[in-house]
This record gives sequence, C-alpha cells and structure tokens, in this order.
Amino acid sequence: MKIDGTPYRSVWVDEQDGWSVRILDQTKLPWQVEILRLADVAAAAHAIRSMQVRGAPLIGAVAAYGLCLALREDASTAALERDAAMLAATRPTAINLKWALDRMLACLRPQAASARVARAYAEAAAIADEDEAMCAAIGRHGVDLIAERAVSGRRVNVLTHCNAGWLATVDWGTALAPIYLAHDRGIDVHVWVDETRPRNQGALLTAFELGSHGVRHTVIADNAGGHLMQHGMVDLVIVGTDRVTRNGDVANKIGTYLKALAARDNDVPFWVALPSSTIDWSVADGVAEIPIEERAASEVTTLTGRGLDGAITTIRVTPADSPAANPAFDVTPARLVSGLITERGRCAASAEGLQGLFPGRG
Ligand code: MRU
Repeated sequence: MKIDGTPYRSVWVDEQDGWSVRILDQTKLPWQVEILRLADVAAAAHAIRSMQVRGAPLIGAVAAYGLCLALREDASTAALERDAAMLAATRPTAINLKWALDRMLACLRPQAASARVARAYAEAAAIADEDEAMCAAIGRHGVDLIAERAVSGRRVNVLTHCNAGWLATVDWGTALAPIYLAHDRGIDVHVWVDETRPRNQGALLTAFELGSHGVRHTVIADNAGGHLMQHGMVDLVIVGTDRVTRNGDVANKIGTYLKALAARDNDVPFWVALPSSTIDWSVADGVAEIPIEERAASEVTTLTGRGLDGAITTIRVTPADSPAANPAFDVTPARLVSGLITERGRCAASAEGLQGLFPGRG
C-alpha cells in the first residue's frame, strides 16, 4: 500500500546491502514515517517486543527475517535453535510467530551450516510473499460481504477493532483487505474505527491507513460500538485475529469480545479475517488454552500523542498510585462469530467449517 504516493510493504530487505531488514517504526506512526534498519537478531527481537512492528502476520515475517540475521552471525545448529527460541518468546499470543519460526526451522535444520543463510533469506521471502498473497485473497473473499449490503449505492458501515490493515501484515491486511477492495471498486464504504485502548492501534494506525488510501472513516471511543449498533449504524463488523483455534474460537486485541457480544445482541454480522498461518490446529478451547499477553501497566496509565505544540508527548491519565492491569487480548467464542474469511474462502467458525476449507488439518 502507499504512504503519500510511495508504495511500501511493512517489512523488506534493504535494496542497497541486500541483507539488513527494513521496517516502518509503527510506534512513530502516524506522526512520523520513520524507516528502521535491523542489522542483528537482537534488533529484530526488540522491534517485535516493543511493537515497532506488531500485528500477528507481520511479527511472523519479521521473526523469520530475524532468524536470517541471527544465522549471519552464527549458522550452527545450536545457535539456530537458541535464536529461534529467543524470537519465539518475544510475544506469546499471536500464533503466526511460532508458525513462521517452525517453518524456518523445518527448512533450515536439514541444511549444512554453510547453506543456511541463503536458504533462510529465501524462506523468509517466501513467507512474506505468501502473506501478501493470502491477504489479497482474503480481500477477494470478503469483499462480497460489503458489496451485497451496498444495495442501490447505499453506504455500508463497517466497524473494526485494533489495526488489522496492511501495517499488521506484509501488505493489504486481513480485516481491512475487503474494505480496501470495496473502496477500490467504487463501493461507498465507511469504517467505524475503534480507538483500541490502551495502545490505540485503531486511532493511530487504522485511521492513518484508511486516510492514506482515501477510505471514509470515523474514529470512535471503544465504548461507542454497542450504541451505534443499537441505532442501526453498523452493517457489519470485521476484525482480524492473532490466533484461531481448530474449533473457531478467536483471540484478538482486548475489547473484541465485547464487540462480538454487542453485535450478537443487535443481529449485526461479526466476521473475522485471517490467513491460515493464524490457525492453531493444536488448540481447541481458546478461552482455556490461548495464552493472553499481559503488557506493561504503563500502557494503561499513560497516553502518548502529539501535543498542540507539535511535540510528541506522553501524559499520565491515572492517579500516580493507582495500579493498572493490561491484558492485551481476549477470546471471542466461536458461537459469537458469524464466519471466518480466509485465503481459501469463507467458512463457519467451527471445526467443520475450518476442515471444509483446510481438509486434513485439525
Ligand atoms: O498487539 P498488536 O498490535 O500486535 O495486536 C495484534 C493486532 O494487530 C490485532 O489484534 C489485530 O486485530 C489482529 S492481527 C492482524
């Protein structure tokens, strides 16, 4: 996708040196478009941990490239296993991280150490290219959900939570891919963007993405969605996900579950968009089995934004001695999900639905 007319992916190999890894620093967006150069595995791990890159598919791709950087320093089997484990521990909830590293390990373990670096870059590039292709396909499979509601040119209002656009993937996005496609086809689509406290991925990143692409949108407080649904102002919800169980339970950014409850109470369809790299076939019950990342309390007690003087400022929004808790994800049970949009098509959020699209898995 483009920023100010320039096409970007969210991760790429430096064109000049051919080996270092470039990312957009997402902690600086939307105020500053800053490109970072990752030159070693520690920098890649830091980028994931500190959310310079975030979003399940993107952290998988960055971890794969992080392993390439690690192998440049030490391509032995012991180092491969150690560095892959270190990268896997950077964030616990999104399964794409483990998926990408498992795929890299399966490819690299049988290789001679001397062949590993070149093989690793090829596999990481394949992971990135496939992610882009899967997200484009999600767009094609999801766009009809919007098109079929645009009867006689009427505006379609989609609510989304967090950022599941191109910045959360390698390109296109998951939840936003059908929205971009609908917009490009001339459908009048408008997006209600949940601000997504505490890190505000919606207010900062989704709004930035949609605005850059010319998609109509309105940022709302996280608590506004239920009210809008009660008043017929939301035609459909589409969210992304960090992990889907084989039974169709959906882990996503904290607050998603409450949107699903409100959607069910108001008969608003609630769809979840994902590449198959987000399915954890080893897990059945999302609420019981998916680890939920607990992030720093400071993400709740403070807010960062641009001051009226133009400077980026962090302010405290709670009393100095009030403790805060910060579970970063929640699980929406499959029964509240209208359906899943994958690169292979749409299906019910159920074991049968997923097996119909991905036979032999689960
Ligand atoms: O904590 P983040 O920003 O890495 O959160 C992950 C996400 O981007 C969201 O949960 C998103 O909705 C699913 S990933 C496409």
